[in-house]
Amino acid sequence: MKPSTELIDGHYLPSNSRNAVKMPLYLSSNYVFNSAQEAKELFQQKGVQSEENDNDHEKPAGMIYSRLEHPNLILAESRLAAYEGADAALFFESGMAAISTLFMGMLAPGDTVLHTSPLYGGTDQLLRGLLQRWGVHLMEYAPHESMEEIIARIEGMKNTPSIRMIYVETPANPTLQTVDFGQVMELKARIGRLTSRLPVTSCDNTLLGPVFQKPLQHGIDIGIYSATKFLGGHSDLIAGALVCSRDTANLLRGVRSQMGGTASPHTSWLITRSMETLELRMEASQRNAVQIVEFLKGQPQVQQLFYPGLLPADHPHHGQASGNGSLLSFELRGGQTAAFRFLDSLGLIRHAVSLGGTESMACHSATTTHSNVPAEIRQIYGVSDGLIRLSVGIEHVEDLIADLRQALKAANTGAH
Ligand SMILES: Cc1ncc(COP(=O)(O)O)c(C=O)c1O
Repeated sequence: MKPSTELIDGHYLPSNSRNAVKMPLYLSSNYVFNSAQEAKELFQQKGVQSEENDNDHEKPAGMIYSRLEHPNLILAESRLAAYEGADAALFFESGMAAISTLFMGMLAPGDTVLHTSPLYGGTDQLLRGLLQRWGVHLMEYAPHESMEEIIARIEGMKNTPSIRMIYVETPANPTLQTVDFGQVMELKARIGRLTSRLPVTSCDNTLLGPVFQKPLQHGIDIGIYSATKFLGGHSDLIAGALVCSRDTANLLRGVRSQMGGTASPHTSWLITRSMETLELRMEASQRNAVQIVEFLKGQPQVQQLFYPGLLPADHPHHGQASGNGSLLSFELRGGQTAAFRFLDSLGLIRHAVSLGGTESMACHSATTTHSNVPAEIRQIYGVSDGLIRLSVGIEHVEDLIADLRQALKAANTGAH
């Protein structure tokens, strides 16, 4: 089956569910064992799935308890894994549950995370706060830094850091700055030679994936999603996902069971429903975004416009992504005052955080999603006071442009 068919028909046999066309919602916290021997065997395998049964509802393995796994979870995971071309996928109750489980599962005190910036505000806060408090060190690099500069910085440190993980977000929220996977893979190899241990590479792929970008196909070990965004797609759920190899999934599935962030039956069912239209939604909102970028280019109130599609044709981003998505940001002349006037004047476009829904949404990153990032660091990242982040939905583009036009006018004049 083609990947898009997998999202609709893959891994589900109606005869396993009383011939229901769609898998029903399995609202059960636990499952009855067929025998004491079966219970013993299931507990022996707990947290580790056999290759045969892994992520495959057509050969259902026994279930124990829905924090470990349940039929709706297995279906959602098998379809995402198939679409992404990954061995395995894991769903969580939020993007942050996925990210925190990844960190807890892969890192130990004394390890260093080498990461790009900016990252989503919540990830940034987790790394700088809890993770540092628990003895994990951070080292940042800017995507424009050359390999030699980064390696020289590592070599120049008094004690060679134990770089266990490279963590990138591309495009980054909210500046749309991109990271070159080729450079990440080279960094991994160079650090491996320097420290005698290959770091794990991970990429927050929320903004373009899985339709327009598949990091695992470029050698990245772990793909990360806030499934609240495009995978869920209707602003009616909170969820997260990881895609990775079978071994990593077995490790992280165990950590997820211990930390308790497993996606519930209801969340998994909604995600499965939403993924059927994933390609349609992401393509439609991208078409709208391209037209909105063209409109914004000509607006005098817009000082700077950020959209991956505006990068030069020979930029590495275009070699690793098949599209540019539907998230863009722009800096208004007049700083925060103009930005607030603009947001307060929007009619159709929702003034809300989050992104990737069918409806368009705009927000002021500096005072909302990235308000926990210190002001001086926000300036370095380019999260300026006039920056508006716009998530373009699938409404009629003429309605969206009309709303943007009147809000830009109001931002300029102060008239609401
Ligand atoms: C790029 C990115 N990663 C991770 C997250 C966190 O996901 P969640 O809000 O589903 O926990 C978000 C949320 O906005 C995000 O935009």
